[in-house]
Amino acid sequence: MSALLQVRALSKLFPAGGGRRLRAVDGVSLELEAGETLALVGESGSGKSTVARCLVRLVEPSGGEVTLDGQSILSLPPKALARQYRRIQMVFQDPNASLNPRMRVREVLEEPLRLHLDLAPPARADRACELIERVGLGVVHLDRYPHELSGGQRQRVGIARAIAVSPDIVILDEPTSSLDVSVRGQILDLLLDLQQRLGLAYLFISHDLQVVRHVADRVAVMYLGVIVEQGPTERVFAEPRHPYTRALLSATPMARWGIARTRLRLVGEITSPIDPPDACRLVGRCPLAQPSCAARRPELIDLGDRHAVACPIATQSPHPGAPLRAANERIPTC
Ligand SMILES: Nc1ncnc2c1ncn2[C@@H]1O[C@H](COP(=O)(O)OP(=O)(O)OP(=O)(O)O)[C@@H](O)[C@H]1O
Ligand SMILES: [Mg+2]
Repeated sequence: MSALLQVRALSKLFPAGGGRRLRAVDGVSLELEAGETLALVGESGSGKSTVARCLVRLVEPSGGEVTLDGQSILSLPPKALARQYRRIQMVFQDPNASLNPRMRVREVLEEPLRLHLDLAPPARADRACELIERVGLGVVHLDRYPHELSGGQRQRVGIARAIAVSPDIVILDEPTSSLDVSVRGQILDLLLDLQQRLGLAYLFISHDLQVVRHVADRVAVMYLGVIVEQGPTERVFAEPRHPYTRALLSATPMARWGIARTRLRLVGEITSPIDPPDACRLVGRCPLAQPSCAARRPELIDLGDRHAVACPIATQSPHPGAPLRAANERIPTC
């Protein structure tokens, strides 16, 4: 049986002047099952938002295949495409930028209903009331403009807009990072509550690994346009295999998580995403690199239990997280 959403070899190349191309997304493959949360993590510029934007067609993918319930959606005719795209909605990082400042909340919520569902105006008005209450606001907020709401309230409206047309999948692109720390937890709780009630699948993009560990069933780690590791969240956090994942986790204070890990620091220059060589993208920074890493781009190697890593050297490690070089320093178990 195929996954709810399957992404195969997705790529997005942006022109970078002089005939060169920036490989923002370069052969990304992902699967998302109904009702689960897959987190997409990686440092700034690794291509997370571009993957999200390709999936909702805010940018046109350069290549690859995306299927929803087994049906390819990149090549559908416009009407069928709109029907399928109702099923994938997105919540953006910055609700200030993603809500039209000239539309009252009521119009923000009724717009997708008008575009995607054949509802009469009274039914649309009823649905707007139901939605605003579902995200923890009151009908009084329907007549407000975005600038009359707090940041947290605006993000609640962004979430209400995303769930308005009963999607199966919601892409959350750093949904709390622009918000005050005091309201982040409330918005996360709301998202978890909605997921349970509505059976939503989330593609959850975040820099906050502690939040990822809390909310995600599986995690995919991106580096310079490619997925270098993916697997069940607990397993990736407890036994990170790819040097990049290990470095990423090393940079996060996780003492209270009680996980024994091996610290790994990246050194050297970041590879340019503009026409990069056909090699491991981490080769210039990886303390474990060997000559073969510069010779070809590593494929994801299946480690079992849905854990996969794009590093043949990591798979040769005697046990996960074991220090392969003296330079790596051991972090004691808490
Ligand atoms: N419209 C665009 N035109 C040209 N280059 C772009 C465009 N959008 C993104 N890029 C480039 O693509 C790469 C990936 O960007 P993207 O925004 O997807 O990264 P990200 O992982 O979401 O980063 P962040 O964590 O900072 O949000 C970056 O090098 C970025 O500069
Ligand atoms: Mg981004």
